[in-house]
Amino acid sequence: MSQSQPRVGRPALASWLSTGNSITQQFMAIGGQADFVSLAGGLPAAELYPVEAMAAAQERALTRWGSAILEYGPIEGLPALRAAVAERVSAASGRRFGPENVLLTTGAMQGLDLVGKLLVDPGELIVSQFPTYLGALDAWRPRAPRYEKLDWSLQAPGQDAALRQAKFVYAVPNYSNPTGVLVSQEERAALLDKVLAAGTWLLEDDPYLPLQFDGPAGPGILAHHAQRQPNGAYDGPVIYLGTLSKSLAPGLRVGWIVAEASLIAALALVKQSTDIASSLLTQALALEMIESDFEAQHVPKIVATYRERRDVLCAAASEHLSDWFEWEVPPGGMFVWMRAKTPEIDTDALYAHALQEKVAFVPSSVFDPDGALKSAMRVNFTRSAPEVLTEGVRRLARATRRQLEARPGRAA
Ligand SMILES: Cc1ncc(COP(=O)(O)O)c(C=O)c1O
Repeated sequence: MSQSQPRVGRPALASWLSTGNSITQQFMAIGGQADFVSLAGGLPAAELYPVEAMAAAQERALTRWGSAILEYGPIEGLPALRAAVAERVSAASGRRFGPENVLLTTGAMQGLDLVGKLLVDPGELIVSQFPTYLGALDAWRPRAPRYEKLDWSLQAPGQDAALRQAKFVYAVPNYSNPTGVLVSQEERAALLDKVLAAGTWLLEDDPYLPLQFDGPAGPGILAHHAQRQPNGAYDGPVIYLGTLSKSLAPGLRVGWIVAEASLIAALALVKQSTDIASSLLTQALALEMIESDFEAQHVPKIVATYRERRDVLCAAASEHLSDWFEWEVPPGGMFVWMRAKTPEIDTDALYAHALQEKVAFVPSSVFDPDGALKSAMRVNFTRSAPEVLTEGVRRLARATRRQLEARPGRAA
């Protein structure tokens, strides 16, 4: 054994690598195994990816822009796509946002990363919707933030004090990952009041906006604030993240941040030192898909497929899992959040049994900054065909039976 001192930073790095990152890689890897049903990933239905339309759009983009599109781009992104995003957000919110309010990013994931890098110093406080998207926890892990749970009723003791200390509030009001919850308009407005009173930022992460199965999601929190400040340059507390990952394809890696212009300028500087600029080529491709109206025509097809899959999954779960789990049918998004009805179910332990049954889900502990939530699981319904979903649920039922039989203290 070497007698040398451990290097500063090494222990933190080791614990970081042993948690979130490896879990995400595991979920990705599992999805590719034959005869395995993965209900774990947050992935779209690959057969709906618009391969031919993308090929045509790429051809048009290269003809339109020529070699310019193969350069490093402007840090803020392709100007025409910035303008298109500004228009989209203006239409959704009823007030003007300009290109100066838009930073194009490498997926919404990069938005999470950049906001963390700019706003959070090590150990500072984030008030977060709970349970929390694993990718956000991963993005901010290097800042080692403290977390307080966001209570949408805003009644939790200490919530006002936490909001005043927080660097930002993180919320996914539309069909949240992992719970699929659609936050009510009253709760959105009330949170905005509190955020304004506390003088903090509000990070609204909205990847699931296109996936509305049971009627409209209604205005986002950015739109709520826009109604209160309808004119002039936007200088509100909302930092909004959007993406084309769910409406077109995650491999495009095209997302955006919308916020007040000075924050966008600061985030652009952080982005420059992260990746110089996002790919102009994929941004040009995205622009073609939007301008040709392909995206708008494609989304209803995705929604119809996903709605059917959600219903198949929930029907199978009612048949096979309802003795042990309860859930709400999500009105949009990609996930059903199943909560154990009995404390004897531990979804970390269940996960190991599920792998033996060749099925995977995501255990709730990874969505808890403290890792303590072991009573629920996230089940994806968008990736798999209906018959695969039904088989996956049957396997989950077998795994649950095995976990209950194997629990400590139970006579063999
Ligand atoms: C809540 C949430 N935010 C952000 C992302 C990342 O999206 P993107 O593919 O645009 O990076 C996801 C992806 O699933 C997500 O669920």
